[in-house]
Amino acid sequence: MLTKSPQDRESCMLPCRYFQAARQAFELVISSLDFHNDQKLLLPAYIGITDREGSGVYDPVLETATPHEFYPVNERLGAIEERLYELIESGKYKALLIIHYFGFCQNRMDIIVKLCKQNDVVLIEDCAHTMLSSVAEGDLGCLGDFSFYSIHKYLAAENGGCLKINNPKYFNVLQYPYLGRNLLTVDALEIILKSDLELIRSRRRENYLYLSNLIDAISGIELMFGHLPQGIAPHNLPLIVHEGRREDIYFKLVDDGVPAIALYYRLISPIVEGGFDSSIKVSDNILNLPIHQDVTTADLEFVAKSLRTALSS
Ligand SMILES: Cc1ncc(COP(=O)(O)O)c(C=O)c1O
Repeated sequence: MLTKSPQDRESCMLPCRYFQAARQAFELVISSLDFHNDQKLLLPAYIGITDREGSGVYDPVLETATPHEFYPVNERLGAIEERLYELIESGKYKALLIIHYFGFCQNRMDIIVKLCKQNDVVLIEDCAHTMLSSVAEGDLGCLGDFSFYSIHKYLAAENGGCLKINNPKYFNVLQYPYLGRNLLTVDALEIILKSDLELIRSRRRENYLYLSNLIDAISGIELMFGHLPQGIAPHNLPLIVHEGRREDIYFKLVDDGVPAIALYYRLISPIVEGGFDSSIKVSDNILNLPIHQDVTTADLEFVAKSLRTALSS
């Protein structure tokens, strides 16, 4: 029927759906997939948990009782390539989760996309730290069958998660009823609409480069990613603190007013018990410094000075 104004809520829409948090989007994805014939979900062996927030990645897996296993990662949090490729080709897995930690891309996405397609494995990209990064193959979040985002980690919104579906085969998931508690608030919606994402992306890059130059030569630490690749908009600046001093340095920085974090200082128990040595090593030594869009060069100079003082005392 011809109507005076648009009525079709499906017409000209992007294949995405908003939530209050990324974990709700992930929960919807895995509950929509049919894990039959003993097929499992493959997760990276670097997932954290806190008493306050639980585990954004693992809670949905437990809540949906999704059968799963972990694949090993290296000390830069990329998959151990040969092992991951072998697992994808084994026929034992229905879906694979790739996490783009801290906004970086730690994996050969061209190979992973190809292998997943060839072996009928659903590829899910966790872009919780990665709203604006791109690599040679395209934007992160556009390479898998599904991707999900954590908007409140990137913008000054009190909540916000987004599910994006790239494979038309799964567009029906957009029609699933809302899980009830999950609607994005008006405040978050306004922030999303008003945010200048290009400016945020360049501020984050500039801040990362500025801070990494200031701290690169400090002894006792090592940048996890010394080079900032083209297209990457980092979530924070991860570094490794040597000689078992992470805890000590973390508290000194926090006492000084530097809001450092350690993603993830506590890993979920199956990873600890699974003997994933590189994961445990990273978890024990990682420290993440703020470089978000509100941080000024004066703030970054203060962070560098505070870090230098903490390490020399
Ligand atoms: C890698 C990663 N994925 C997903 C999540 C979940 O994000 P949200 O808090 O928006 O549910 C988090 C944080 O908890 C995370 O660090």
